[in-house]
Amino acid sequence: MQVLVTGGMGYIGSHTCIQMIEKGMTPIILDNLDNSKQSVLDRIELVSGLRPLFYQGDIRDKTFLDSVFSKHNIDSVIHFAGLKAVGESVAKPLEYYDNNVTGTLVLVDAMRRANVKSIIFSSSATVYGDPASVPINESFPTSATNPYGRSKLIVEECLTDFQQANPDWSITLLRYFNPVGSHPSGELGEDPQGIPNNLMPFISQVAIGRREFLSVFGDDYATPDGTGVRDYIHVVDLSAGHIAALNKVGTKSGLHTYNLGTGIGYSVLEMVKAFEQASGKTVAYNIVDRRPGDIAECWADPAKAKTELDWSASYDLKRMTVDTWNWQQKNPTGYPD
Ligand code: NAD
Ligand code: UD1
Repeated sequence: MQVLVTGGMGYIGSHTCIQMIEKGMTPIILDNLDNSKQSVLDRIELVSGLRPLFYQGDIRDKTFLDSVFSKHNIDSVIHFAGLKAVGESVAKPLEYYDNNVTGTLVLVDAMRRANVKSIIFSSSATVYGDPASVPINESFPTSATNPYGRSKLIVEECLTDFQQANPDWSITLLRYFNPVGSHPSGELGEDPQGIPNNLMPFISQVAIGRREFLSVFGDDYATPDGTGVRDYIHVVDLSAGHIAALNKVGTKSGLHTYNLGTGIGYSVLEMVKAFEQASGKTVAYNIVDRRPGDIAECWADPAKAKTELDWSASYDLKRMTVDTWNWQQKNPTGYPD
């Protein structure tokens, strides 16, 4: 099985490529290296024993896409490529809509020309907006509170319309909850450029001494300890969800939508404590104001993926924190240039 992996040099894409190789699949990576480094390819090879084919280019480049599709018999596409920083999306909405929405449309159009009719799209739990209750299942109403979230929602809606007009296509929307953790080897992990936006990489950089303290965004939410609660999922489990989706529904025509989460919520302070235990370091923190746009709690009902994909998360919070710390220690400043 040959699978074109857009954004395959990034955090989730690189981990997924390793598992694809382990399962005998052939990932072909397409990435513009906007948010990743060439050295990721060396790490994929080191861990998996195989160096995937890599095309450096942009999903918005029609000619480039046509040339890649013409060179290979691609069975399916996993589409990770996109921009993902919520704050940046508020400042640069056009860039986000261009990259995430236009990019996906150009990609799907190229797939159509190449007669490749199976795509798995990286969506996000952000499409549930501020949910009325938890746990969240796939039939909950969707909404967006920022341009990043709206770009994911627009793509979901475009792909839904497209699938209805083209019923022989297989389109899978995977809604990730909060991906964390690293490959157990410590060779691959999350490598945010600049100040991390997300909790886990921030905690990890405080523990290693790159940042002085964590700002905890609010302790007055209606949650057990007042801090925000999220469904953190190990990136290895998340990657396995893509393999399960490819195998179970990747060749089945239809629109398939799944939550990829653990079904368990942890608070910010629980995450800090777990990381302190894993690292043996103190993670200094200050309570500050709530971050605009944040919600109190968000965790998945992962039952649909269990029933239909035979997939569920198996890595616990200890593994998430131990593996993150292993990666952080081995790569204190991330991937080499
Ligand atoms: P990432 O930034 O590490 O990886 C994305 C990759 O896509 C990068 O290597 C980047 O260089 C590449 N890319 C971006 N725009 C491109 C373009 N126009 N053409 C070609 N390549 C391009 O992000 P990630 O955390 O691995 O996320 C992967 C996907 O999952 C994204 O679509 C993201 O929105 C989605 N997602 C991520 C999270 C998360 O917390 N990490 C949560 C929900 C959804
Ligand atoms: C954020 C995005 C979401 C995106 C997801 C994955 C927002 C509002 N939402 O989700 O759209 O899909 O990342 O990329 O940005 N926290 C702190 N201090 C920090 C960082 C985070 O206290 O320095 C808290 C947050 O308030 C939240 C929890 O930690 O309660 C998790 O935050 P984060 O990792 O940013 O993820 P989300 O906000 O869930």
